[in-house]
Amino acid sequence: MSIAETRVPTKKIGNKDTVTFTDNASGKSVDFPVMDGTVGPRVVDIRKLYGEMDMFTYDPGYTSTGSCESKITYIDGDKGELLYRGYPIEQLAEKSDFLEVAYLLLKGELPDAAEKAKFVKDITNHTMVHEQLASFLRGFRRDAHPMAIMCGLVGALSAFYHDSTDINDPRQRMIASYRMIAKMPTMAAMAYKYSTGQPLVYPMNKLGYAENFLRMTFSVPCEEYDINPVMATAMDKIFILHADHEQNASTSTVRLAGSSGANPFACIAAGIASLWGPAHGGANEAVLKMLNEIGTKERIPEFIARAKDKNDNFRLSGFGHRVYKNFDPRATVLRATCHEVLEQLGDARDEPLLELAMELEHIALNDQYFIDRKLYPNVDFYSGIILKAMGFPTSMFTVLFAIARTVGWVAQWNEMIEDPDQKIGRPRQLYTGVMRRDYPASKKR
Ligand code: SDX
Repeated sequence: MSIAETRVPTKKIGNKDTVTFTDNASGKSVDFPVMDGTVGPRVVDIRKLYGEMDMFTYDPGYTSTGSCESKITYIDGDKGELLYRGYPIEQLAEKSDFLEVAYLLLKGELPDAAEKAKFVKDITNHTMVHEQLASFLRGFRRDAHPMAIMCGLVGALSAFYHDSTDINDPRQRMIASYRMIAKMPTMAAMAYKYSTGQPLVYPMNKLGYAENFLRMTFSVPCEEYDINPVMATAMDKIFILHADHEQNASTSTVRLAGSSGANPFACIAAGIASLWGPAHGGANEAVLKMLNEIGTKERIPEFIARAKDKNDNFRLSGFGHRVYKNFDPRATVLRATCHEVLEQLGDARDEPLLELAMELEHIALNDQYFIDRKLYPNVDFYSGIILKAMGFPTSMFTVLFAIARTVGWVAQWNEMIEDPDQKIGRPRQLYTGVMRRDYPASKKR
């Protein structure tokens, strides 16, 4: 049975264009309303498809499926454009700071001076975690991957903050959102310190968000820690670039978990788990491992060949994107930041890594396989080089991504709960298993 779908609207429902699905087998035709966004592809509202035509759509990986309506982030993959509440990412990266961007993503507008000061104060006053969380930490082996620790610590927050888990109370939702944004750097630094055997460092309220995180991560009690402004600026910019990205895998995970009414801390823990995958946020760690494995420019052709070989599941980490079929604008900003940071912070050993990355980018972008598939460097391709130069171990790269993306996750989670169209997410399937059969006695199997 096939559906011939005419793209041109055949008639209107009210003032809405429609798309008509015609089932050639039964001859049945049904009109479905088309919805327009502010910008970007229109959507066909197929919510009545199953009831009207006894059919599901089939879209593994949701390559052509809009899961929700959102006002937060817009991506134009062909243009390589990324807007947070309408503002281009490159302008925010250059002119704003992470907490101002967090306010923008959460509330929809940039704050005035008083609003910003209050928001920064509110976030800062939530940076400490319950002292018993440190003992929870000690249940992990010292060599536990910090993302595993973050899944545990963030999930455990729901055991500590019962006063902000009622998702139907807007005030509690905002308190939980502020707590998540404020405490992620503290827990991330705890995970890092625990892996080094160094003592945990408490947040210092007089410091900015990125500065506080760097001090909790790299300072030791036996000496003063001077914040390096280049590092703090680079850290803040990296957080801005990673803050939100429409309905990516981890954000969709947070929305799906939240659609069941789960508490916000559990939803963010689910998002962290999804982000960890090497096809998603884990790619920045994978890029560094790949560059170190390639080692020299002479070996690049060998790895390009492997990336093209369908019998080899190797993929070029940091390349390609479900949405961007042009440069990822975040990669463009990070590529420039790379040079700044390496000049200021990186030791000479990191230069070859950057040169290797740029040579790999050059070769790949001139290779027909990558050109045909519109595979460009993405946000993860350069971030790892900067983070390594800043002194982070590769195992912490995705944790830093999670700190930043928590802002997007809580903004999207709040939007989902406030959406009157929202209901529990429950996709269907195409069943191709065996038909009904009776249980056989063991001697008959
Ligand atoms: C992030 O969604 C987001 O917004 C994510 C993110 C965010 O901010 O939240 O932007 C962050 O996750 C960035 C992506 C990081 N991942 C990587 O760098 C891992 C390497 N990239 C690939 O695994 C891949 O490109 C994905 C997962 C990113 C996208 O995969 P798609 O959209 O499912 O594309 P696909 O697998 O269908 O690939 C299309 C073709 C295939 O070849 P053909 O079957 O058509 O011959 O391109 C090929 C793929 O084999 N391909 C690659 C490739 N990526 C795609 N070939 C070699 N190397 C690659 N990196």
